[in-house]
Amino acid sequence: MTEIPEHLLKRSKAAKAGQSGGDAGGGDTPTASTGPTSAPVAAEKSAPVVAEPTANLPNLDPPPKPPKPVPAYVTAAMARKRVPVWVLPVLAALPLWAWSFAGTMQQPEVEDELLIEAAELYGSCSGCHGANGGGGVGYALTDGELLATFPSAVDQMVHVARGSADIDSQPYGSPDREGGQRVSGARGRGAMPAQLSSLNQLELELVVYHERAILAEEDTTSPGYEEWVEHMREEIELGVDEPIDLDFLLACADPTMTPGATGEGSEDPEEEPCPGPRAEEDVAEEAASS
Ligand code: HEC
Repeated sequence: MTEIPEHLLKRSKAAKAGQSGGDAGGGDTPTASTGPTSAPVAAEKSAPVVAEPTANLPNLDPPPKPPKPVPAYVTAAMARKRVPVWVLPVLAALPLWAWSFAGTMQQPEVEDELLIEAAELYGSCSGCHGANGGGGVGYALTDGELLATFPSAVDQMVHVARGSADIDSQPYGSPDREGGQRVSGARGRGAMPAQLSSLNQLELELVVYHERAILAEEDTTSPGYEEWVEHMREEIELGVDEPIDLDFLLACADPTMTPGATGEGSEDPEEEPCPGPRAEEDVAEEAASS
């Protein structure tokens, strides 16, 4: 509001002469004697007030405003199409994309606590057997080596738990191994350290699982194997922490492969089955009898 038409100024003066110190809307005019200090605030508030014809107040109601010229950038924006047609299906598909993308962020492998724990436990073995089981001070576990020594996991559990010094110079592992049975201490590069006091039973199973399933790439698809994995998962969840019972493991192990093993099996196979994947025939037998 820059210019005030002459006729309005006259009307304002006339009105002011007729009354003393009206203020509402008075600040609207720069010529008003009420002072310019309140002008900006008053100007904002004055519009609705002066819109109603009030007899006593100075009527500074401006003449109908000419429509503001629309800036060029606004007309340009209004002329422009908001969203190109081809974008519409893309926009429509966005939620679907977001949903499927979120799905790929959760690879089960990444979150598998069993695999993570097993790999972490193997960390204490990797210095001697290699990060990927390629061997070092200790034997290589890959390329069929480990599986040739220990066809069954429970015999390997005994060996890892007990270490090699305890059975020094004794044969162990599968008699069918190419080049003959292993002999403890024959590698001549020190002993396999016993793990009885550093691992609990669940940890022993996990590290043996890592060596067999991950490093030695054993076939894990049998029902008996899946049962074992499921069992370890449950124990991880429950936080089971039981010490290794070497006598129990020796009862479960095979005397032809493990010095000191009895092969008697568990006294209570229902309540306390031998650890490791259950043999195919046992699984089949149970399935047949139930
Ligand atoms: C200090 C080095 C060292 C560490 C640590 C070590 N090992 Fe060994 N491991 C050996 C040696 C040496 C042998 C062979 C000993 C011998 O001459 O009989 C061996 C043998 C073995 C064997 C027998 C392999 C075969 O084919 O005969 C297995 C299984 C094994 N280790 C598993 C493990 C596991 C599981 C761990 C971790 C919990 C581990 N080792 C930690 C040095 C080590």
